[in-house]
Order: sequence, then C-alpha cells, then structure tokens
Amino acid sequence: KPKFSNILIKINEEAADFYHKVLVSTNAGRPGYNYAKQRGLNDEIIAHFRIGYAPKQNNLLLTYLRDQKFKDEDLAESGLFVQSQSGELFDRFRDRLMFPLTDEGDYVVGFSGRRLSPYKTEAKYINSPETKIFTKSKTLFHFAEAKKAVRSEKHLILYEGYMDVIAAYKAGIKSGIASMGTSLTDQQIYMLRRITKNIIINYDGDDPGIHAEERAARMFNNIGGFNLGIVVLPEKLDPDEYVKKYGWEKYQEEVKGALTPTDFFLKRLAQKYNLANDREKLAYLDEAVKEIAQLSNPVEQDLYLDKISQQQGVSKDSLKVNFTKYRRQQN
Ligand code: CTP
Ligand code: MN
Ligand code: MN
Ligand code: MN
Ligand code: MN
Repeated sequence: KPKFSNILIKINEEAADFYHKVLVSTNAGRPGYNYAKQRGLNDEIIAHFRIGYAPKQNNLLLTYLRDQKFKDEDLAESGLFVQSQSGELFDRFRDRLMFPLTDEGDYVVGFSGRRLSPYKTEAKYINSPETKIFTKSKTLFHFAEAKKAVRSEKHLILYEGYMDVIAAYKAGIKSGIASMGTSLTDQQIYMLRRITKNIIINYDGDDPGIHAEERAARMFNNIGGFNLGIVVLPEKLDPDEYVKKYGWEKYQEEVKGALTPTDFFLKRLAQKYNLANDREKLAYLDEAVKEIAQLSNPVEQDLYLDKISQQQGVSKDSLKVNFTKYRRQQN
C-alpha cells in the first residue's frame, strides 16, 4: 500500500492500529476482546477487519497520538475527538468495539463504535462525524476488500450492518459490503455500478429492513443497468443472526434463492391485500399489472403477466388490456 500523504488519514490509520493493539494485546482491551469473542469473532476475523477496542479510560488515544507529535489542530479535525467550549480535546469513543471505516483505497477515514452493554441507555453505534476525509453518504463498509472478491464471486452483496458483512465473510462470502444502516444513497449506488451490475440486497428480515430493501430496489432501478437479487430472511432475522441459528450452508441457499425485484414487489403487494375478497383482489391485480408495465424487457413482462394470471385464476388476455393502457400512459 502506498504511503498516505493526508495528515487526517494518517491520524485515523494510527488510531486504527492503536485500537486494534489495545483489543488484541492489552488488559485494558479485555472487555472488548471478550465481547468480540461472545459475538463469534475469531482472531482471523478481528485481524482482517482491523477490529479494535476504545478503552474505558479517557484520553488514552489523545495521549498516544500527542506522543507521536501530531498537532492538536490536526487531531481536532480528525473526527476522533470531541472539543469542549474552551477548545479542550477528549476521546470521542470510549468503551466501544471499534470498526474502522475505509475509503476506496482501504485507508481508514473514520470509525463506528459499538457499545458493549446490552442496555439501551446509549446509542448502539456511534460514528465519526463528517470530516474533510469522511463523508458517510459516499462510504461503504468493506468496499475496498469486496471489490477484489467480485471477480470470483460475480456479485456484491449489500447488507445493513457491519456484523452482517462479517458473518457473510465467515460463511466464505467475501464480497459483502454495508451501507451502514438502512438509508442507502445514490452516490453509494454509483460506487457499486463501477464495480459490477450484479447486486444482491440482503437487509435485515425485520420491517424496517424489508421497507429499506423496497426503497433500495427502487433506487437501483431508477439509476438503471443493474441485475438485482433480493433476499428476505425469515423470522425478522438479520444475516448475522440467521447464520448463527441455521448455519452458513442454509444461508448460502437463501442467497441463491434471491428474488428478482419484480417477484419481490409483487409478493409485498400481495401481502397488502386480502386476496379472498374480490374487491381487494381486483385492486391488487390492478396494482400488479401497473408494476409489470414498468418493466422494459418484453420477456419479463410476459413472464410476470403469466405468473399473475396463473396464480390468481384470471386470463392473461384480460390482464393485457390494462397492461397496454398502463404502457401507453408511460410513453
Ligand atoms: N446503525 C448506526 N447507528 C445506530 C444503529 C445502527 O449507525 N444507532 C447502523 C450500523 O451501521 C449498523 C446498521 O445501522 O450496523 C444496522 O443496524 P442494526 O440492524 O440495528 O444493527 P446490527 O448491524 O444488527 O448490529 P448488532 O448485530 O451489533 O446489534
Ligand atoms: Mn436492522
Ligand atoms: Mn412500504
Ligand atoms: Mn441488524
Ligand atoms: Mn445484528
């Protein structure tokens, strides 16, 4: 890796080394190490993701970086410290498991820190603030590493969380990335498009996760040029929890069974209606045909009209009438 010239990156890289060293080889790092183990992270995973621990005691990072002759004015801009009214610096992250966030060249530009305790008195994750080197909307967790795996795995898998990317990695899937929450941005989609058109979305199986998959799939479709697969996990599980419960072989089957966006949308739509009631069924059929009319590929149009016709016991010809109407409205 070439040497970084940016002082803020240099500081964040040093901090990553510091947190990591604290985790793997100090007494102060024990709580973090134990938590990591309890979450199923082994030494190889901890090393690959450069996972660390921000100690409980205040200002150990500040002291460490000052000893290395970094200037306070640069430290203040690194995102690693909070500043008091009077300008005093304090470590931002304390008693948290630290995930380094890297840019496209895999240089550390920020962090996310997870609280260890199960009590919800503090935010589960806190992140570096936006800085000159860190823009959350243009960052994807594990992106630099996942890029390298695309050649062999042929796609990228988009997750919500760090622990999901890590669970996938343990299952042998190295092409996992995370949007760091459910609010994917257009900029992140453009980053992905430069790497591959084959994207699998696998957010959490809970309500917010499924809603976010719907939103993400629309965003990918609007930008266009993607071949999307969507995984919906059962029992509101997230990928990390799924792998723990059912094992990685079953997880890989879930990925293989990813739905096309249209299948996913139609399934979601069907859940919103009581199809035993004719009035609701007609409304569903209308919405479903409208959805299919948005497809540009005639083979796909035919495939899904066929499917709906068979599933709902109505003729394809009758569906075609409304289909043609909606197609015309689009032009
Ligand atoms: N997130 C965040 N801040 C929060 C909560 C969530 O930035 N207060 C982001 C994190 O990137 C997190 C992702 O949203 O990984 C998904 O959130 P969630 O599903 O709640 O967390 P998990 O990733 O499942 O975390 P864990 O398994 O550690 O509970
Ligand atoms: Mn979630
Ligand atoms: Mn919805
Ligand atoms: Mn989750
Ligand atoms: Mn989780």
